Amino acid sequence: MATPRVMLIAGNWKMNGLVDDGRTLAQAVAAGASEAGCELLVCPPAGLLSTVAAALSGSAVALGGQDCHPEVSGAHTGDISAEMLSDIGCGFVIVGHSERRADHGESDDLVRAKAEAAHRAGLTAVICVGETEAERDAGQADAVVGKQVLGSVPENATAANTVIAYEPVWAIGTGRTPTPEDVQAIHSHMRNVVSERHGGEFGANVRLLYGGSVKPGNATELMGLEDVDGALVGGASLVAEDFLAIAANSG
Ligand code: PGA
Repeated sequence: MATPRVMLIAGNWKMNGLVDDGRTLAQAVAAGASEAGCELLVCPPAGLLSTVAAALSGSAVALGGQDCHPEVSGAHTGDISAEMLSDIGCGFVIVGHSERRADHGESDDLVRAKAEAAHRAGLTAVICVGETEAERDAGQADAVVGKQVLGSVPENATAANTVIAYEPVWAIGTGRTPTPEDVQAIHSHMRNVVSERHGGEFGANVRLLYGGSVKPGNATELMGLEDVDGALVGGASLVAEDFLAIAANSG
């Protein structure tokens, strides 16, 4: 059965901000959250998670990590486990962002293992996929994204513990976005792919986010599309006013 999908606006702060910046930004987002009309999530860098958790305490804004290791613990210098994220107060973790796929050579298999770790720890995995500009120009966007979705979403994923974010690599941080028709088409394709693989209930209920140069000015059009259930916002999530305006324009 399809239940109405609640719009999720997620901020990916990437590697930005020191402790004071994170606290101030989180407090400003928390202060405006009650008027948002949708679910809000912020994903600060690991070093700011505890500070932001404290700043968000008592608000409806959820906290997420930007990455996790597949293992619970062990000799993995520089990594953070899903259990550690949960322990700090996270309910979500982004996995397979294109910057990690590119900078750290992350494969679909590794991304799937990270999503499984998120589920093991009780977190919702925000699994990112998206084609490069060359792949889109070659007419391969649907095929590339479909393959990433099939390879990155765990077998036992549920619509409750999984969110899929479509982020075309060429739209991230560039100010460029696909046309609304292209966004709707690829989201509809992703919903068909996951419905076939994970069943109709999963397909009907899983939230599919769009990411890549989402701003207050384009949020209404992009978030109004039938198969778009929210946004993964990078640059604009670093300004509380813009992030909240995106949420307000998406309700
Ligand atoms: P952007 O980043 O909004 O700055 O384009 C989106 C993302 O990478 O999640």
